[in-house]
Amino acid sequence: GAAAPGTFGFTAIDPVPAEVDRFTVPDGWRWETIISWGDPVETGAPAFDAEAQTPEKQKRQFGYNNDYLDILPLAGSDRRGLLVANHEYTNDELMFPDYATADAAGKLRNTETAMYAHGMSVVEVRRRGPRDAWKPVRSRYNRRITLDTEFVIDGPAAGSPLLRTSEDPTGTRAYGTLNNCAGSTTPWGTVLSGEENVDQYFSKPAVPTAREARYGLTSAGRGWGAVQSRFDLANEGTRNEPNRFFWVVEVDPEDPTAPPVKHTAMGRFKHEGASVRIDASGHAVAYMGDDNRFDYLYKFVSRDTFRPGPSQAARRHNTTLLSAGDLYVAKFDGDGTEDGVYDGTGEWLPLVVGGRSFVPGYSVEEVLVFTRNAADVVQPTAMDRPEDVEPSPVTGYVYVACTNNTARTAARLDEANPRPANKDGHVVEIIEDGGDATGTTFTWNLVLVCGDPDDPSVPTYFGGWQGEVSPISCPDNVAFDAAGNLWVSTDGQPGSIGYNDGLFLVPVSGPERGRVQQFLAVPTGAETCGPQVKSEDGYVLVAVQHPGDFPGASYAAPASTFPYDGVFHGPRPSCVQVLPA
Ligand code: FEO
Ligand code: CA
Ligand code: CA
Ligand code: CA
Repeated sequence: GAAAPGTFGFTAIDPVPAEVDRFTVPDGWRWETIISWGDPVETGAPAFDAEAQTPEKQKRQFGYNNDYLDILPLAGSDRRGLLVANHEYTNDELMFPDYATADAAGKLRNTETAMYAHGMSVVEVRRRGPRDAWKPVRSRYNRRITLDTEFVIDGPAAGSPLLRTSEDPTGTRAYGTLNNCAGSTTPWGTVLSGEENVDQYFSKPAVPTAREARYGLTSAGRGWGAVQSRFDLANEGTRNEPNRFFWVVEVDPEDPTAPPVKHTAMGRFKHEGASVRIDASGHAVAYMGDDNRFDYLYKFVSRDTFRPGPSQAARRHNTTLLSAGDLYVAKFDGDGTEDGVYDGTGEWLPLVVGGRSFVPGYSVEEVLVFTRNAADVVQPTAMDRPEDVEPSPVTGYVYVACTNNTARTAARLDEANPRPANKDGHVVEIIEDGGDATGTTFTWNLVLVCGDPDDPSVPTYFGGWQGEVSPISCPDNVAFDAAGNLWVSTDGQPGSIGYNDGLFLVPVSGPERGRVQQFLAVPTGAETCGPQVKSEDGYVLVAVQHPGDFPGASYAAPASTFPYDGVFHGPRPSCVQVLPA
């Protein structure tokens, strides 16, 4: 169809059955791989060799399972950019021929290499012209952020005894970032990244406390304690090491020598990501999901205000905005379903405001370090796994991807989480009262109640649109084009509706509100991450995460060969650009 200003014209693709190993785009479009797992990043990095990967090589190569992704313009040029990507986790069974082999000391042979495939990457990319594909280049900006990278811990909980370990008695620095999931690019040109399911890397303490248990620190872990003792919580000197993770981190891709920052003011939970809007008052407001079943939606409001303009002084000031401010958690009230829509009012419940704790029995430091436990006290709304949360740059309305919650029972429904055994998820639209993002009240509605409209056993809702839609399930990441259309990427469709995951256009205003149209599908077993819809620049970015992660697949018997370049006999997670053919 014809493109409205600020968006693309395309004809929706048909849903792709879950076993198909193909990256699918609409007619008139093509896709190009920008960078894949194992490609060289830092100077001197060797080429990828699946049979001979080592920790030392991996430290300088592109990591595994790219999730958040963006390309930031560099030096005002439309031919140079900085690609920033998260590397959330690893599929060791797909990566290594002998991942389960242990040495004499009990260390799994490839664990250390897998550890260094986590973190983040910054890579300079260039293109010949605005309609050409981005390609990585060697550059002084290129940087791997790994477990060895020193981070500054800032904000009100920095230095707290809760953050001290035998390795860092000051509680003001940390090494590495882990399980970096969604993220965002800030209005001042840095990148935020959420540390999510970090619990899996720690072997549990002998007797976990209730606070530790609330963060999932109750399992045997992945054997990382045999490589670095800080991941073994039987060791009392490192008992607080998990408290130095589960934060929002901020990276300045333009300064490869700057230590990234962990922001304690934004609270500690299983951070999916954080997305910032500058309110009319100038305050930076960040929206954040805690992606677990029955967990919460949070909002941070900066104490200080944004300084516009390109000067380095303004930029330096703006990089302090997330270091001090107020933290809230969301409570949703429904107005009843007799009106035929899931909607109502809501309130941001204060956790820390004006430097004071609003949680009985919790100091400010305790609220910020054990935010989940503190939030439980004030009784927010337990959501169906709030993943990515982003404010529209056009309207300021906030969109929350609640990916699914099959543990939701009929006894525990509310209007904001209205389906039992919710396997398909929904998307919440939040409208701050008076357009004031710093305020404490809002209205809300479910713009999408996802699923396959051809399956009459599952009630769905598509923003009031009555015509045809693409089936969509398990919304995970959200993005916007320049016209303010919502784009949703999914994680879990193969299991819920039998189709490969993808990226979908969802108009949220005008007569086509709710008309879901599938733009692309990722290969078998993969999740669609990172999406950026650069509509004014004419292309889309997606991170293809865990391709080939299909039941029964292994290194020896892969389910995918994506990105089909012959470099590896199995799949490689990759960043992909989709552009006009
Ligand atoms: Fe890493 Fe919540 O997805
Ligand atoms: Ca209602
Ligand atoms: Ca996610
Ligand atoms: Ca997910």
